[in-house]
Amino acid sequence: MDFLELAKKRYSCKKFDTSKKVEKDKLDKILEAGQVAPTAKNSQPQRIYVMESEEALKLVDSLTPCRYGAPVALVVAYSTDEEFTYPGGKYRSGMEDASIVATHMMLMAASLGIDSCWLNFFDPDKAAEALNLPDNEKVVLIMDLGYAAEGASPLPNHEKTKTMDELVSYRYTRER
Ligand SMILES: Cc1cc2nc3c(=O)[nH]c(=O)nc-3n(C[C@H](O)[C@H](O)[C@H](O)COP(=O)(O)O)c2cc1C
Repeated sequence: MDFLELAKKRYSCKKFDTSKKVEKDKLDKILEAGQVAPTAKNSQPQRIYVMESEEALKLVDSLTPCRYGAPVALVVAYSTDEEFTYPGGKYRSGMEDASIVATHMMLMAASLGIDSCWLNFFDPDKAAEALNLPDNEKVVLIMDLGYAAEGASPLPNHEKTKTMDELVSYRYTRER
């Protein structure tokens, strides 16, 4: 499958097969895809927490209603001590870094036949507190991972994209 096909095939899974675990070798590959993701100045401020035990999954359920039965959830955070500061001093890269790391992991999962759902329907401060993270770690997202339950399918709007004209503008560089 070429990359665009894979990107189109991936969807946000909202119903996982609770009886099917994610194999260790696949989880390791997913985490490795995050490890090799680019980050600003290669600072690698990401911190990934693998939530897999019964107790850990209960904790996830206390933060969000959106685990959907996934057997694994990754909490993706970053260290504010290690993120890059943009020239001007106003903006920092931790959110971006965590997001590209998560995107690598999500697409690696898809390529291994593992379904996923990116979550932000939770309070990041409460998540950091529940995980007992140090003050310098900020939580960005939770990612459900697992196998879709039988009958699970993308939401009807999965293939509904805005038009290229709405999303992309060519400024000065090309004739359209
Ligand atoms: C930043 C972000 C946050 C999201 N948060 C949630 C969430 O908390 N709960 C949920 O069920 N889906 C969540 N999603 C999934 C989106 O609802 C989904 O990606 C979107 O509707 C497009 O569907 P598709 O991924 O199947 O194409 C999130 C996706 C993104 C990118």
